[in-house]
Amino acid sequence: MSKPDVLAVAKLHPFFQQALEATYTVHDRTHVTDPAAFAQLAPRIVAVAATGESLVPADLLAHLPQAKVVSVFGVGYDGVDVPAAIRHGIPVTHTPDVLTDDVADLAMGLVLSVGRTIPQADQFVRTGLWPQGPMALGKKVSGARLGIVGLGRIGKAIAQRAQAFGMSIAYTARSEKPDTGYTYYTTPAALAAQVDFLVVITPGGAGTRHLIDAKVLQALGPKGYLINVARGSVVDEAALVAALQAGTIAGAGLDVFANEPHVPQVLWTLPQVVLTPHMASATRETRQAMADLAFANLHAGVTGAPLRTPVPECAPR
Ligand code: NAP
Ligand code: 8YV
Repeated sequence: MSKPDVLAVAKLHPFFQQALEATYTVHDRTHVTDPAAFAQLAPRIVAVAATGESLVPADLLAHLPQAKVVSVFGVGYDGVDVPAAIRHGIPVTHTPDVLTDDVADLAMGLVLSVGRTIPQADQFVRTGLWPQGPMALGKKVSGARLGIVGLGRIGKAIAQRAQAFGMSIAYTARSEKPDTGYTYYTTPAALAAQVDFLVVITPGGAGTRHLIDAKVLQALGPKGYLINVARGSVVDEAALVAALQAGTIAGAGLDVFANEPHVPQVLWTLPQVVLTPHMASATRETRQAMADLAFANLHAGVTGAPLRTPVPECAPR
């Protein structure tokens, strides 16, 4: 008997791909690479496998009458048209919690990297500049003021780590979290004006598009650093480049970009910027846990079992 058909809308992580292939026939981006074959295939697709960066638009979902679930390998699902999926009776799942520690670790790694100029120091030694040193001094991280934009699962984990560095913690979110004891600001600009490091960790999508704009960067000021581990869309990238070039902020640590995997070349050239390739959850342990959860969700959806981690909009009420 042939295996049921799954559409992968993006290149999947090998751990997720292998887990799926044991039970399903995985069609890798057929809707893009071979529309004629996809037209034949679409009525048989029982599930969609996606990544956190994937686009799953309404017009794709409309062509999948047998689809029982969209399983996202990632916690962010801003590329999925969830209202359309709900209209078509296709629940959406994601992989929260299992990646929280890794993303918080990388956020702190970027705080330390930009503040203490660790990648720049590595280059300083490797390119033989040490004998002509010393390097320029960095910014002290211990005891500095941290601002978190988005105090959810990952934002709280970043705050916990920062507390161990003796940092003061302030945040903005849609709602105040009085139980945390951290200082709340109603807007990113008000928060930015009070901190040394501003870490962005909200979801992407229309609700947060360019939440960090020129005004917020101006409030952060010439001694302030921006860290973005959320989505490229949350930061106005052109305004960020302008602020870095003009020195109106001190530096930036960026794991996510507006048009991945393409990073504006001007950012490559700025010495006060640390760049990573959307790798905040990229450890073997976490990617395995994400693959296990993404597979469990997909298989549950296809077999009619309870979903492990539906997105909030698709959770049972
Ligand atoms: P979460 O628990 O849902 O937390 C999201 C937080 O963002 C919440 O505190 C929420 O506020 C806040 N927020 C939402 N819209 C906002 C707005 N317009 N203004 C201010 N704050 C807003 O999600 P999570 O698990 O922490 O993950 C957060 C995001 O991190 C994901 O959606 C994904 O985009 C990104 N991420 C990136 C990577 C990477 O590899 N770089 C890895 C994993 C996740 P309320 O609490 O008030 O609702
Ligand atoms: C992943 C992410 O890199 O969870 C998310 O939202 O952005 C990351 O964990 C991504 O989903 C895998 O492609």
